[in-house]
Amino acid sequence: MSNPSEAELIHTFKGIPFTTRSSPELLKALDTFDAREDDVLLVSYPKSGTHWLAGVITKLYNTQVTLTSPIEFGDISKLEELNKLSTKRIIPTHLDYNMLPTNFKNKKCKMIYISRNPKDIAVSMYHYYRDNPNLPTIDTWTAFFDLFLKGDVVCGSWFDHFLSWEEHENDKNVLFLFYEDMKKDLPKIVKEISLFLGLNISDNDIQDICMKSSFSEMKSDTEKENSDPSHTVCALTSNRKLIFRKGTVGDWKNHFTPKQNRRFEEIFNEKMKLSKM
Ligand code: A3P
Repeated sequence: MSNPSEAELIHTFKGIPFTTRSSPELLKALDTFDAREDDVLLVSYPKSGTHWLAGVITKLYNTQVTLTSPIEFGDISKLEELNKLSTKRIIPTHLDYNMLPTNFKNKKCKMIYISRNPKDIAVSMYHYYRDNPNLPTIDTWTAFFDLFLKGDVVCGSWFDHFLSWEEHENDKNVLFLFYEDMKKDLPKIVKEISLFLGLNISDNDIQDICMKSSFSEMKSDTEKENSDPSHTVCALTSNRKLIFRKGTVGDWKNHFTPKQNRRFEEIFNEKMKLSKM
């Protein structure tokens, strides 16, 4: 059987590439989605540490929370299911700020944005694309590098995504996190998240959550429950090896050539002129 064509896998909505798993009807309906004041959003560009953050949050809420796959994946029934939930809703999304349902903004729902060095994101995404039959075939790292810089990948340009959210970094209902800070001092960030969510968590519990959220613990946990794909916030694969790959900072150095690094930096400096990053 031949591989599905790019057109079968990807479509563009409001200028952003989505997989065909995100139906146009669902994407349109997001505009009028009914938010609740106590909804919590976990926001990220893919491969920024979404699962890690989700792991921490579910432990903070002591698993009483229903985690769904990103709100923009699936068909319109996804929104109906969300509307029916009577439990607190923790909603992952890869949407940029402009595409986020307006009601989340109007109701000032709490939103946690996790970001990561885009060079590491590019490498992580390359591996994710390469081994994922639900995404277009990528022949080489060089080819993927160009697509990433052009924003011709799922969820569009990392630069546009990050900048759209960075504008709201200081909004009271937005918590801005970095993957690298979580690697450096996870207890500090977990404490920050718990304060932001208004949860009273003891230092002992924070230590425990951090231990259970380490890369090795999370990887082995998901391997144990490998047959249950509902335990992932990634709708494009249930293959845990694609989600828990290396979990390190700086893997880009093993992939970028000096020339690619210079080109990336040039584009980064140009696009991020007004950014504080
Ligand atoms: P790598 O591919 O660099 O290893 P997302 O969840 O947004 O898809 O991001 C996936 C990336 O987060 C992968 O990066 C994965 O290994 C890393 N990751 C997942 N869980 C982690 C954890 N507990 N600690 C550190 N990194 C983690």
